[in-house]
Amino acid sequence: MNNITSEMTTAVLTGTGHSIPPYAVSNEELVTSFNQYVTTYNKEHQEAIRRGEKEALPESSVEFIVKASGIHNRYFLDKTGILDPTRMCPHIPFRTPEEPSIQAEVAVKAAQEAIRIAGKTPGEFDMVISACSTTQRNYPAISIEVQKILGIAGAAFDMNVACSSATFAVQLAVDSIRGGHAKAVLVVNPEVMGGNLNFRDRESHFIFGEACTAMVIERKVNLTAPSPHAFLIQGTRLLTDFSNNIRNEFGCLTPTYPKDIAQKSQFFTQNGKKVFKEVTPLAASLIQNHLEAHHLTPKDIKRFWLHQANLHMNTLIIRKLLEREGTSEEAPIVLDRFANTGACGSVLAFHFHHTDFKPGELGLLSSFGAGYSVGSVILEKV
Ligand SMILES: CC(C)(COP(=O)(O)OP(=O)(O)OC[C@H]1O[C@@H](n2cnc3c(N)ncnc32)[C@H](O)[C@@H]1OP(=O)(O)O)[C@@H](O)C(=O)NCCC(=O)NCCS
Repeated sequence: MNNITSEMTTAVLTGTGHSIPPYAVSNEELVTSFNQYVTTYNKEHQEAIRRGEKEALPESSVEFIVKASGIHNRYFLDKTGILDPTRMCPHIPFRTPEEPSIQAEVAVKAAQEAIRIAGKTPGEFDMVISACSTTQRNYPAISIEVQKILGIAGAAFDMNVACSSATFAVQLAVDSIRGGHAKAVLVVNPEVMGGNLNFRDRESHFIFGEACTAMVIERKVNLTAPSPHAFLIQGTRLLTDFSNNIRNEFGCLTPTYPKDIAQKSQFFTQNGKKVFKEVTPLAASLIQNHLEAHHLTPKDIKRFWLHQANLHMNTLIIRKLLEREGTSEEAPIVLDRFANTGACGSVLAFHFHHTDFKPGELGLLSSFGAGYSVGSVILEKV
């Protein structure tokens, strides 16, 4: 392959962007609201609890959340509805089809930053992929709405591989460039989590936060000037392994379910302990194997931008890879501020921690989550 042909089929990440919703919710606020709900529930059911017909609900605690997860804070599009112990669900006013959808709106904000950082204009793109774990509607695709708002030609589609959606979308974008189907791809990850997080569930009420990230992936031949943000995508690797340990049942059959099951269906559920035990080695071995396939070792990697679900998972993965404790430079953590933002986690870690790379230095972006699904992307600073 001559140089020009290779530069036309080699993909480069040239810009990332983000948008964070306006309302910060601390652990203290979340726990106060949850414990008010528990007090009211236990009072209302005190007779049944005394007779042994119902179990008293236990309180949540800030200390547990910090110790078990490393999360201190998260952001949502609304907090009054979430923190109201009689509601515990965000207030998101319904929008008519004539108005931009919430997901498209947050995606456009993140996309505008990524497009600006990449030094491009919307007219230069020919593909949009919306990749995330939450879907506001089944169709028309959110990506097509984003495409229309930004004025992008070509094709757009939505995909969902839960928290791994972003890395899976990177592989699709790279393959589309390699196959000649696209010249510049916009990937957006509009995670709107507040609607399917069960704020009455002690095990999971603290886990998620909302965010949107965006990535510009384009042909290397498009690069005209040096940029602190441009990284060659050296390789991608994906893996899935079916598990029921993280589920969200909500879908087109929900209206056919018995009322109580339909009600529960809208929520994220997980067996957190099993997820922790099973996904941690899965992610570490995929990364290790991916690096080996590129004749690299973890020691060749300057930084790991890992999925942001649980601080201890990331610590363990890095310890497995480096055979020692990692530093915050080697594996930056953003989940303390943002909680688990689904597909956005590793992209947010990259977005805030990449401008110190010198040409030739390597980094690795990795996601892991429901499915199970794991993705790895090797990036080389150009
Ligand atoms: C969810 C997670 C933080 C829970 O941490 P954990 O250490 O596994 O906690 P457990 O659920 O085993 O609970 C431990 C104890 O804390 C208690 N507990 C659970 N939630 C609590 C809360 N909010 N407040 C206080 N105590 C709580 C439990 O009742 C249990 O008490 P016990 O030991 O007396 O039975 C952790 O399992 C995790 O992050 N797993 C991975 C999740 C993940 O990555 N999911 C992917 C989504 S993409």
